[in-house]
Amino acid sequence: MYSDRKEFLKKAGSVALFAALGIQYTACSSSTGPETNNDDDGNGENPITIEGNKVTLDISSSFFDDLQNQGGMVVSVSGGFLAVNVDGTTIRAFTNVCTHTGCTNNWNLPGDRFVCTCHNSVFNLNGRPISGPAERDLAEFQVSRNGNTVVIDKG
Ligand code: FES
Repeated sequence: MYSDRKEFLKKAGSVALFAALGIQYTACSSSTGPETNNDDDGNGENPITIEGNKVTLDISSSFFDDLQNQGGMVVSVSGGFLAVNVDGTTIRAFTNVCTHTGCTNNWNLPGDRFVCTCHNSVFNLNGRPISGPAERDLAEFQVSRNGNTVVIDKG
């Protein structure tokens, strides 16, 4: 059921629609993680665990499987991060708090940049602002990966 929802999310294109539904908008090779620590899809998996400043993802889960491939991106509002697979293996993660005025949930992730659609600030995959009103880098988090387990340490 969730994979159908995910496909819907990928194919629909209206930020306004997502906002109206209370759903995080993402685009192209991006996806949205579950917004709780619960087993949202009811299959016995828990693809995200938040313990203090550490967020653990199971990227074999359909919620985060975009992180398996280069250019795959996800945003998690509950986890407080943006993540991207930069080379097929390495995953980088940044805060989802835009350095312009702090929007957290209006990210468009086209695969090669992070776009905050609140006022159209664009950040490259190093978290550096490249256009729009934001002037400061997105804070980067430490990431460790062991197979399909990814741990984001938000410090
Ligand atoms: S808060 Fe992100 S561009 Fe303004």
